[in-house]
Amino acid sequence: MTRHLITSAIPYINGVKHLGNLVGSQLPADLYARYLRGRGHEVLFLCATDEHGTPAELAAAKAGKPVEEYCAEMHEVQADIAQRFGMSFDHFGRSSSLQNQKLTQHFAGVLADQGLIEEVTEQQVYSNTDGRFLPDRYIEGTCPNCGFDSARGDQCDNCTKQLDPADLINPRSTISGSTDLEKRDTKHLFLRQSQMKDRLDAWINSKTNWPILTTSIAKKWLHDGDGLRDRGITRDLNWGVPVKRGDADWPGMEGKVFYVWFDAPIEYIACSQEWVDAGKGTDWQRWWRTDAGAQDVRYTQFMGKDNVPFHTLSFPATIMGSAEPWKLVDYIKSFNYLTYDGGQFSTSRGRGVFMDQALDILPADYWRWWLLSHAPETSDAEFTWENFQSSVNKDLADVLGNFVSRITKFCRSKFGEAVPTEGTYGDAEIALIDDLSTRVTAYEKQMDAIEVRKSAQELRAIWAAGNEYLQAQAPWTTFKTDPDKAAAQVRLALNLIPLYARLAEPFIPEASAKMLSAMKLSDMPWPDDVPSALQHLAPGHTFEVPEVLFAKITDEDRDTWQERFAGKRD
Ligand code: 2FM
Ligand code: ZN
Repeated sequence: MTRHLITSAIPYINGVKHLGNLVGSQLPADLYARYLRGRGHEVLFLCATDEHGTPAELAAAKAGKPVEEYCAEMHEVQADIAQRFGMSFDHFGRSSSLQNQKLTQHFAGVLADQGLIEEVTEQQVYSNTDGRFLPDRYIEGTCPNCGFDSARGDQCDNCTKQLDPADLINPRSTISGSTDLEKRDTKHLFLRQSQMKDRLDAWINSKTNWPILTTSIAKKWLHDGDGLRDRGITRDLNWGVPVKRGDADWPGMEGKVFYVWFDAPIEYIACSQEWVDAGKGTDWQRWWRTDAGAQDVRYTQFMGKDNVPFHTLSFPATIMGSAEPWKLVDYIKSFNYLTYDGGQFSTSRGRGVFMDQALDILPADYWRWWLLSHAPETSDAEFTWENFQSSVNKDLADVLGNFVSRITKFCRSKFGEAVPTEGTYGDAEIALIDDLSTRVTAYEKQMDAIEVRKSAQELRAIWAAGNEYLQAQAPWTTFKTDPDKAAAQVRLALNLIPLYARLAEPFIPEASAKMLSAMKLSDMPWPDDVPSALQHLAPGHTFEVPEVLFAKITDEDRDTWQERFAGKRD
């Protein structure tokens, strides 16, 4: 048994996330957390809302609310949706927590003590029309790297390059649209991450088993000219963590806050303190401090590819630079983008399906299954309604749902609602048990490696093996000539239900719970030994025929939804 710390990239507070956001971080992290718990490991799974920075301020202004109030409300909204999507976080924190404020100020203090923070007077873009500096998302323009015309001041969404507002070509204020901009002097703190280039390089190079997507982005950043140049970690904004050096004031930095990307990853640690302070845990240090037991923890992070530079370079630079015994990440699982029906998901244009809308039309498991079985691991993936309909109808309704319904109904009609006692297993049964033992091992191997799509394929093959067995052995035909043999066939097939429920739980937790409840089981251990797991339902064990597990998506539904989500979100 290992202790596993798992974090999902923390979603920005500014509104409900779309399915592309979900599949790149929270959902695969939840899959892995559920799997590891299922295998008996101790897991701490954390996520939070990312509440600082210009995205929060802009969204609050749009909603006409004070930013604190907006964040408090949106945190509740996101927490509720995450819970309805089955996210099994041990804690869902807030980057605006007091714990994160203190810890962020602490890190700034120790980095300064290590000589890794420099005070720099630099020129920043000031808007005469708006009467303020325009950091990060308060400014947009053309990306100097790829020519994308809506690059933001902090990062280009098209090529993922981290930018400085002063780099943008044809810049404009996103508050007023004004181009009456000038550069003015302002003092900021810079993290001297260039000093840590060799350590970061050696660290990334030691991660030979990391996904290529993760290491290729990290290496590109490390070796691409200014990838690791020193970066400003403070901003001229009101909303954020006030700049302090530990507990002390920082002369000359009054009224400034830390940059959102400085405090956001620190929230991974602060979130574990929030978890303790909420009375859900007792010891956060054993997860995070290598002088308090965290050297035995395996730490895995999940994120979309645009987040990789911050997690492979900036946050490790904070951790390493502190010279304190904090736990560094062991494995970074990153994802490409999910596109929507021939284009991009777009939060601003409301294009695509958002988490709340998804749950309004279908239960979470339908979405979880499609998203995970089509996770954008090796390349971008596209959501289409045809593909969604076909996956749900085939994999969930025809293969899994139909199997459960068919065998429970047949048993009820011939033997009653209890596992039949008669008959013994023959060659076909032994062959199925053998086949499933091999397949379960293959499934575990893929899940251990966080190969999400391949895991889904193995799981589908496990379901299909049961269907094929039932189809070939046809207990309804056997029953006419040899009822005892049919009884043995039914006994084995019924025993597949708890096995399937246990294996599928990380993907489709609600359906899994329904399957166990129909079989009148409160729990099912992980099938470390498949032959004995297939005897879990003893002869005579009673059950109920469950409700339909998965309804098919009709062509009419599909067309209506396609139309509804093509345009503007209401
Ligand atoms: O891209 C995003 O949604 C960011 N809010 C992710 C932050 S992850 C971390 F650093 F905390
Ligand atoms: Zn670009």
